[in-house]
Parts: sequence; C-alpha cells; structure tokens
Amino acid sequence: MTSNWLIGMIALFVATLLPSTIRADEWHYPTPAPNGVINEPERWGGQCETGRRQSPIDLTYQAAVKGDFAPFLFSNYMNPIRNAQLTNTGHSIQIDNTDPSVTLYGGGLPGKFVLDQMHFHWGSEHTIAGVRYGLELHMVHHDSRYNSLTEAAAVKNAVAVIGVLFHVSNQDNTHMDVVLETSQDIRDAAGKSAPLKGKLSPHNLLPKNRTSYFRYEGSLTTPTCAESVIWTVFTESLPVSLDQVELFKTIHDPSGHELVINFRSLQPLNARALVYHTDMDYSGSGAIPKLSLTLIVAAIAALLAK
Ligand SMILES: *[C@@H]1O[C@H](CO)[C@@H](O)[C@H](O)[C@H]1NC(C)=O
Ligand SMILES: [Zn+2]
Repeated sequence: MTSNWLIGMIALFVATLLPSTIRADEWHYPTPAPNGVINEPERWGGQCETGRRQSPIDLTYQAAVKGDFAPFLFSNYMNPIRNAQLTNTGHSIQIDNTDPSVTLYGGGLPGKFVLDQMHFHWGSEHTIAGVRYGLELHMVHHDSRYNSLTEAAAVKNAVAVIGVLFHVSNQDNTHMDVVLETSQDIRDAAGKSAPLKGKLSPHNLLPKNRTSYFRYEGSLTTPTCAESVIWTVFTESLPVSLDQVELFKTIHDPSGHELVINFRSLQPLNARALVYHTDMDYSGSGAIPKLSLTLIVAAIAALLAK
C-alpha cells in the first residue's frame, strides 16, 4: 500500500515535470569554455540529433558541384520594413515582416517565397572552407502556397533561408546601427520587443553580388531543426566592425546571462549535393581560344588594311 502510494506520487511528480522539460523554448546554446572553444554538444534531441539533412554545414568549393539557376528576383526589398519591431527571442534578435509583398523568386527556388523575419547569429553558422565569419544574417521565407512559416516548416523545401555573412572590418556597417541602437532597449529581457528606431530596408543587408552563392537542402538551425529549408548562402560578405559584433553579445538569454554565442555546431553533409552558383563562366578552356581567334582576325584585318 505504502509502496504503491510512493510509486504513484513519483509518477505524478515525473508527469508534472515532463511538460516543462520538453518545452521548445527551453533549449539553449552551449557556453564556450574560458578559452573560447565550445566543447559541449547542443543536446537538442529529436530531429536535431537523428536528422540526415541538418544545418549549418561547412561550405567548400572542393565539395561543391556547379549550378546554373535563373537570377534571383527580390521584390520590395528596397522598401523599409513596415511597423518594424525588434524582438529579443532569447536566442537572437529578430525583425518580423508582415508585408506579404516582400517576396523572393528565381535563383532555382521552386516558387515564390514571402519574407517572414530576419535574425542574426553572432559567430556565423555556416563556414566557408572552415572559416567562420563575425555574423550571419538569416532572411527566413515561406513558400507562398502555404499560409505561414509554421505551416511551411512541416513541408520539405517550403522554407527558403538566405544567409548573409559579415566579416569583421575597421568600419561600422551603418545599416546595422538602427538594429543595434534598438537592441539596447530589449537586451535585458527575452521576449521583449521595441519599435525599430529608424528605417531598415532588407535590401541594405544583401551583398551586391547575388549571383555567387552556395545552395543546399537543409534544416532550421534551432529546435525542432525541421528539414524543410532550401539554403542560399552568398559568398560575398558585408563589413561589420568589432564594436558592432561585441554589442550583439550584450543580448541576454532567458536565464538572464549574456548570449555570448548563438551559432549551432557544423553538421555533416552526408549524401547531399552542395551546389555552387556563379556567373563567372569563362574559367575553363573556352576563353583563351576565343581571345586568340579575335587577335588573329584583328591581325588579318590589320594586314589587309595595309
Ligand atoms: C560575383 O562573384 C563572383 C565570384 O567572386 C565573380 O566571379 C563574379 O564576377 C561576380 N559577379 C558580379 C556581377 O559582380
Ligand atoms: Zn538563423
């Protein structure tokens, strides 16, 4: 009788404990060791650990195959985000977009994609040939055939994320100022939002060169790590100053600590194709014969003219 009661109480205790331990927003990034190296795995469970097309990955030219896609068409990215709010999500700072006319098309994507939100990772998530960048911006979109990002996240390739890398430079990125000034109002509390203290056009956070990029099929880089994402990471990075990068680290996580890093560890490529797209098409054998032919024609023309 007593032992049954005890088992019952333990079961009840465990049952009340479980829902809170598996709450999706209770995950966190591992804390770097004093020397800055991250030794612990994330231990996020579920698909984050069992998936075969996870993100981020190391992007290397050696592992990539050549791609040739139609140009990207960014519609209304020049317009400042309407009623822009900056939110401390506890894992990043995020700007939501509610205007469905801000869309992305082309670039080999299977349809039209609507911009949902932009957020930052300090310490880039993707690396290029093993090199990590100071910052990575994610522009998250959903396929317009679905009603929301949540709905699209359950469907293979119905989410398109654009990754923009930022290298550390001795000059501030002035387009980032409005984000960082506003971030100081929300840094102390996860869940807090504030209106953006100025205008921000998504276009100003895109590199000029939008023809050179890596493309692969992957996942969200935060739990649930849903494997629904078509990734595009541009190879041209934008500048950001060290002071600006340091400001991101003053954002507080849900337990009130400074969020020193918020990038996920690199995931294996496995059997996936990594595609590299560029408009530079004259690197092969074709260019030189064409040039010498032009020279020969010019030489003959010059001789004939004499
Ligand atoms: C984009 O970058 C690639 C790789 O660096 C380069 O070959 C290409 O010419 C660039 N295109 C434009 C339009 O600047
Ligand atoms: Zn992200």
